[in-house]
Amino acid sequence: MTNTMYATLGFLAATAAGAWAWRRRHPRSYWYAVAFPLRAARVYLTWRHVSYGCTLTRRRRAWRLSLEAVPGLRTASAVIHERRRVRRVDIDRAPRLGLLRPTALGWRVRIHLHDGQLPDDYAKVAERLAHAWRVHAVRVVDSKPGVVTLLATMRDPLSEVDIAPETGELLTVRPGRLENGRDWVIDFRTVPHWLNAGATQSGKSNLANAIIKGLAPQPVAIVGFDLKGGVEFTPYAPRLSALARTRTECVALLDDLVDVLTGRMRICREAGARNVWKLPEHARPVPIVVLVDEVAELFLMADKSEKDEIAKTATALLRVAQLGRAFAVYLIVCGQRIGSDLGPGVTALRSQLSGRICHRVNDPETANMTSAIWTPTPSTRHAPSPPRHPASPSSPDKTAPGTAPAPST
Ligand SMILES: Nc1ncnc2c1ncn2[C@@H]1O[C@H](COP(=O)(O)OP(=O)(O)O)[C@@H](O)[C@H]1O
Ligand SMILES: [Mg+2]
Repeated sequence: MTNTMYATLGFLAATAAGAWAWRRRHPRSYWYAVAFPLRAARVYLTWRHVSYGCTLTRRRRAWRLSLEAVPGLRTASAVIHERRRVRRVDIDRAPRLGLLRPTALGWRVRIHLHDGQLPDDYAKVAERLAHAWRVHAVRVVDSKPGVVTLLATMRDPLSEVDIAPETGELLTVRPGRLENGRDWVIDFRTVPHWLNAGATQSGKSNLANAIIKGLAPQPVAIVGFDLKGGVEFTPYAPRLSALARTRTECVALLDDLVDVLTGRMRICREAGARNVWKLPEHARPVPIVVLVDEVAELFLMADKSEKDEIAKTATALLRVAQLGRAFAVYLIVCGQRIGSDLGPGVTALRSQLSGRICHRVNDPETANMTSAIWTPTPSTRHAPSPPRHPASPSSPDKTAPGTAPAPST
C-alpha cells in the first residue's frame, strides 16, 4: 500500500518536473501540445457561464423535460414522486462558439452572433472576456455577416519588440509590431503618404530612423528635410540623396522635387502610362521617399518677409503630396500637431496623408485630428493600443519605450 502511494507520488512528481522542464525548454511545443488543449477545454466548458456573465446570451423559450422531484434532493422522509413533464421554459442561450484555433500567443475563435447582436457588442465586453478567460487581452479582429472573430492573447506582444525593419520587399518597411502580435508593415505602394504625429519625445524621429533603416538596402532614393538643424538625419547623410536643414535649403529641395515630378509626368505621358509602375522596368524611375521631420518649422513665420517663402513651401509640399503617388514620390510628414493653426495649406496637406500614425499626444484634439480621416476596417477597428516599434540602432539612448500608432491601414 505504502509502496503504491510512493510510486504514485513519484510518478506525479516526475510528470510535474517533466512538464516544467518541457515548458521552460520548448515553450512553443508545450503551448500547442499541452497548455492550449487545456485552455480550450476550459473555454468550452465555461462558455455558457462566461457568455452569461458578459451579457452575450439571449433569453429563449425552449421545450425542456423537467423532473418535478428528483431522488436524493428531498429529505429522506419525503415521499418521492418522480413526475416528468415536457414544458416550455425560458433559457439563456450562449452564442455558438466555433473551433478554437491556436496561435503563437493565444487563440482565435469565431462566434456566431445572436440575432440583433453586433460585433461592437463583443468589442465592448472584450475586457470582461479577457478576465474570464484569464488572458492578457481579447480583441475583435474580424467580422462577417453574422460572425465575429475574437483573438485572445496570453501576453502583451509589445512588451519586448525586437524586429528588423528590413522586409526585403520594395517600398515596404517593418517598423514595429501590432498589439495582435503581427508585424506592423508600412507599404508605400498601398498607402503612399504618412502623417506621423506626436508630442515631443514620443518617438517620431525614432520611427523615421527605423523607416530609413528599412529602406536603406532597397533601390530607393531617400530625401530628408530635417528642420531640427539636421540633428536627426545627418548621420544618414551618406545614404540620403538630398538633405535640407534650413528653410532656404528646403525651398530649393522642394523645387527640385517638383521638377522631378514634372519630368516623370512627361515620361509617363509620352509612354502612354498612367503611372510610373505601368512603364517598362528599364524606363521606370527610382522611387523617392521624402521624410520631413518637424514640419511645423516649415510653416513658422517670424516676420512678414517670410510669408512668400512659406506660401511657396506649402504649395510645393502639397504638390508633392498630390502628384507623388502616381510618380513614385512618397511622403512621411512628422510633427507635433499638424493642424490649420500652422498656416494655410496645412489642412490640404493633411488630407493627402492617408496613412496616420499617432504617438503619445498631449491632448485628445491632436489625436482626433491625426486620426480624423482614418476609416476603420473590420480587421483594425478595435485595436485599442498602439503598435510599438523597436528603437532604431541610430538612437543614442533607448530608455523610453517608443510608441507608434494607429494601425497601418
Ligand atoms: N521605439 C523606441 N524604443 C525605445 N526608445 C525609444 C523608442 N522611440 C523613441 N524612444 C526614446 O525616446 C526618445 C525620443 O524619441 P524621438 O524619436 O527623438 O522623439 P520625438 O522625435 O517625437 O521628439 C529617444 O531618444 C529614445 O530614447
Ligand atoms: Mg524628433
